[in-house]
Amino acid sequence: MTALWLLALPLALPAQQVDYAYFKQHVQPIFLKKRPGHARCVTCHDHRSPQLQPLAAGASTWDEAQSRKNFAIWKLFVVPGQPLKSQMLLHPLARAAGGDSFHGGGKHWQSQNDPEWQTLAAWVKGQTVPASAVTRVLQSNSAGDTIHVIDPATHQVVGMIEDIEVPHGLVISPDGSRIYVTNESRVTLDVVDAGSLAVLRRIPLSGLPNNVDVAKDGRHVYVGIRQGTGAVDVIDTSTLTNVKSVPVKGEIHNVYVTPDGKHVVAGSIASSTISVIDAATHTLSWTLTLSSGIRPMTFTRNADGSTKDIIVQLSDFHGFALVDFATRKETRRITLPDPPGQHKETEGLQGSPSHGLAITPDGKLLWATSKYYDSVMAYSLPDYKLLKVVKVGLHPDWLTIPPDGKQLFVAVAGDDITVVVDNKTMEVVKKIPVGAVPKRITSGVLKMK
Ligand code: HEC
Repeated sequence: MTALWLLALPLALPAQQVDYAYFKQHVQPIFLKKRPGHARCVTCHDHRSPQLQPLAAGASTWDEAQSRKNFAIWKLFVVPGQPLKSQMLLHPLARAAGGDSFHGGGKHWQSQNDPEWQTLAAWVKGQTVPASAVTRVLQSNSAGDTIHVIDPATHQVVGMIEDIEVPHGLVISPDGSRIYVTNESRVTLDVVDAGSLAVLRRIPLSGLPNNVDVAKDGRHVYVGIRQGTGAVDVIDTSTLTNVKSVPVKGEIHNVYVTPDGKHVVAGSIASSTISVIDAATHTLSWTLTLSSGIRPMTFTRNADGSTKDIIVQLSDFHGFALVDFATRKETRRITLPDPPGQHKETEGLQGSPSHGLAITPDGKLLWATSKYYDSVMAYSLPDYKLLKVVKVGLHPDWLTIPPDGKQLFVAVAGDDITVVVDNKTMEVVKKIPVGAVPKRITSGVLKMK
């Protein structure tokens, strides 16, 4: 009985804290609401203390960055845990109801039972919002210290992961509760709580990390180590410890778990080698050396779900190669087109004229980036027929397609934007400003607030 009753209690933070998500969802609308006979809070407080950020022209509410600023200022006008000692609750409350003597903006609430006042009181007492499963795109900024959280339905930035300087790779846990990020500045795997977007733990790695992936059952995280003779670190996600460093051939740039979950495929630029690890035993199964450095990879599937081909991009090659997974041989190379009359970008390619691949969940459409032509290029699968060249901006890099398969998200490193391309019309539908030099990008279902 007691246990059930406890479960029904609202989620609450420890005393001394107020929740940002609750503020954004429930407190901010109060500042915008028109009460009969009263001016709105925002009308005065967009230019006087406590300050609310001025709304953008035509906007009906604040964006993520503005909401965070509002939160940082307004939380200073409450005493966590104590509504009746909080200026923000006493100033606009009628004197007869326990409010203080005067507010230049008037008395908006006649009673402490007013639902708005109750909402503010709940916030001050530490009320949080429950997590819900939502689809999100995560854009890491390779020259920054933030990761932008984008809602693919509205194209708005709805959250920010902070305090990871030079984030490299990132991946969402299959249950949506965590985000794993490789941190180049600290040489750690940072575990981020999806609900609060706070870093929960930083796990030391055996060397400088590059990309990361997670097992389909969520039990292990694999980190490519770009140092020494090359390794893939294996992190146990229940104990959050680094349990094994699997030696592979050459320092590792990218690491992927195959769609069937059976293999971990690591690519080395320095040794031009693909190393395939058995995901059950965490030992090296086979390697294949190609003509130049191994860059991004993706996988096609057989009807039974097993891996058919590795599609692999290579250093200094404007295109991609196919490696037959069963025979372990390169079978084909496809060169991206040179669209006539277009300027060819050759500056700052970082040895990789085509660096980014994505396949729609139905397995029928492949996108590859072209840094030469500021574009993404669409191919039909399984016949690899060129369908369309779409200009997106300077230095397009990594790609992701959220689970519904409707849109492609492109990290455009040279323009500090994430570009959204509709997979049906194959046209750019949105350019979203993000942080410094956006590269790695991923998407999936997150349990967020
Ligand atoms: C008509 C303009 C106006 C409106 C509307 C208004 N305020 Fe004010 N507010 C003021 C002025 C002027 C002051 C400074 C004088 C004072 O403390 O009363 C102030 C002060 C405050 C303070 C105290 C700041 C301090 O330094 O102690 C808080 C908190 C506050 N307002 C909250 C609100 C909230 C919440 C609303 C909406 C429910 C609101 N205000 C609506 C004009 C306004």
